[in-house]
Amino acid sequence: MTERAVITSLSQMLTQEFVFSILVLHGPNLNLLGQREPGIYGSVTLAEINRLLVAEGVKLQAEISHMQSNHEGVLVDAIHSASQDKQGILINAGAYTHTSVAIRDAIASVKLPTVEVHLSNIYQREAFRHHSYIAPVAIGQISGFGAESYRLGLIALMHHLKSRTTT
Ligand code: DQA
Repeated sequence: MTERAVITSLSQMLTQEFVFSILVLHGPNLNLLGQREPGIYGSVTLAEINRLLVAEGVKLQAEISHMQSNHEGVLVDAIHSASQDKQGILINAGAYTHTSVAIRDAIASVKLPTVEVHLSNIYQREAFRHHSYIAPVAIGQISGFGAESYRLGLIALMHHLKSRTTT
């Protein structure tokens, strides 16, 4: 890269305008990624996934905020707050995917476009993981690509938001 090209790309980074603010929500036990059942969930930690999403967000003009909680009500509160200043939600609700009417109702209430992601392919696993309460209120779901599921989910969410803005 020439000196001029480096300066141009640096100034582009500095003047980067975020077009959309996205909330990334991680549900129960995802704080243990990296050590938790690595044969199923891989060795990537949650901090690494968050860093990957922030970096991908810069490319996509998405400002990423992330939070993880093991508590259903905290996740519900975060979804409610998102309606004030976020344009979309990327969520891995963990086990609450299969149990939580409250999280489903919160997503339906705030009407923010939401993409559901899972590291593992939930349809290849135990029958109780085949049903998602989130899926009917999400614009789509990505499941089975490990940490890459999050990146693909963010790309899909941003594609949805940008195409909505230009149509
Ligand atoms: C998970 C799948 C869920 O069934 C499980 O309870 C999780 C993680 C996934 O990312 O593959 O905690 O959401």
